[in-house]
Amino acid sequence: MVSLKRLAVFFAMEEEAMPFIQSLSLAPDKDFGDSKLPFRYYRGRFKSSFDVLVAVNGKDPRYGVDNIGTEPATLNAYITLRQYMPDLCLSVGTAGGFQHKGASIGDVYLSTEAFRFHDRRIQIPGFSEYGVGHYPVFEIEGMAETLGLKKGVVSTANSLDYSEKDWEMMKKNNASVKEMEAAGIAWVAHLLHTPLLGLKAVTDFVDSPEKTEEQFFAHFALAIKKLHSNLHQVLDYLASIQ
Ligand code: ADE
Repeated sequence: MVSLKRLAVFFAMEEEAMPFIQSLSLAPDKDFGDSKLPFRYYRGRFKSSFDVLVAVNGKDPRYGVDNIGTEPATLNAYITLRQYMPDLCLSVGTAGGFQHKGASIGDVYLSTEAFRFHDRRIQIPGFSEYGVGHYPVFEIEGMAETLGLKKGVVSTANSLDYSEKDWEMMKKNNASVKEMEAAGIAWVAHLLHTPLLGLKAVTDFVDSPEKTEEQFFAHFALAIKKLHSNLHQVLDYLASIQ
């Protein structure tokens, strides 16, 4: 385990992040990052154990919606890692799960094996593996079992839905959850030698005839509740192994 002095927690959506920010009474830090960019930062301490910085991707200035997807995630990760220099990062949020792999709505998954992309298809020798990425996951032995978290591969792409080719790649990736940021953050974390974990709560089933967006809204509140209770347990666990 790393000696944990600074923990960075990445969220794409404000509604995903706010319960955590409020529960830890983190304070906004307006001087952090680049004032020209929409990212938002909140800082504080977790009990007497380590400092915490929450990095949220903020709103798109033209469309007024959360900056979801890999570009904001990657840019925010770069700024956060360079300026805050965390010992450990978490990519936290919601995701699609797979019924055929035993997922239930509200399940919280801890990332295993490697973060992967499922929409970067480059049929040129050497580049196809580069496209998938396989960025390292920092695994903490026994944590998922102790906390009752599910374990699996987090697979990333920039669409809420998926194409037939995405589906094939998700299968090849052995994806347990499908989301839109983690592999982008993982690329930066890998380049900057910073350990990264993913924690993702299931709002919808990828392998369901029901519309993803309808499932997402119907189950968002439940998934966020479970995500935050598990996130607190993860922080407690990290504090306990220092
Ligand atoms: N976030 C929540 N559900 C998702 C899905 N099915 N795909 C991508 N991101 C998600």
